[in-house]
Amino acid sequence: MIVRICLLLVAATLVFAGVSIALGGAPVENKGAAEITLPGGTRGPVPFPHHQHQNKLVDCQICHSLYPQKAGIIEEFKTAGTLKKKQVMNKQCTKCHKQKKKDGLKAGPTTCAKCHIKEKK
Ligand code: HEC
Ligand code: HEC
Ligand code: HEC
Repeated sequence: MIVRICLLLVAATLVFAGVSIALGGAPVENKGAAEITLPGGTRGPVPFPHHQHQNKLVDCQICHSLYPQKAGIIEEFKTAGTLKKKQVMNKQCTKCHKQKKKDGLKAGPTTCAKCHIKEKK
């Protein structure tokens, strides 16, 4: 009898879990931090409004085809030689901002000092 009750409880729990997954338990996409400060070498760190770009560009792969969705991965890849120094800066950030500007659209900064902020001393 006790065994039966236990099995029943287990079954009920499983059904409940299944139902809660089906009802709005869809995996929530991890959008990462809203604001990220990227290391910018000798020129100083680069503040990057991550969610603003997600909202504007929608497609995550525009950037994440080059590096995965992981904090610190650009530095990791640069150290490993998977990414060249300034590759993200030149091939993504600055490239896109310049193109948008050329097309007369709203764009981000294209000059060194507007992206790289001086480190506080
Ligand atoms: C304009 C470029 C760009 C776009 C578009 C973009 N990301 Fe990112 N994302 C980055 C950069 C840069 C980093 C930081 C990498 C690092 O720290 O080296 C990052 C980091 C992340 C991280 C890990 C950092 C954290 O805070 O957990 C996640 C998760 C992530 N992105 C998810 C997304 C998703 C989901 C989308 C689409 C909805 C997206 N990103 C669109 C550039 C972008
Ligand atoms: C749109 C923003 C943006 C602009 C404009 C920009 N940078 Fe960068 N820069 C970055 C980002 C992001 C990184 C880190 C990723 C990378 O190395 O590609 C970086 C990295 C660097 C690095 C470090 C490279 C290393 O790993 O040693 C230097 C040095 C640098 N930038 C110099 C400059 C100079 C000089 C200018 C102006 C001619 C400039 N940047 C303009 C965003 C920018
Ligand atoms: C595919 C295009 C694209 C890429 C790649 C991209 N940006 Fe931008 N960025 C934009 C656009 C468009 C805006 C203007 C957004 C707006 O005004 O809503 C912008 C705005 C910005 C701003 C200004 C935000 C503000 O509110 O003033 C910064 C800073 C910036 N980007 C940094 C970066 C850095 C750093 C990278 C690389 C890691 C990057 N962006 C990659 C398109 C891009």
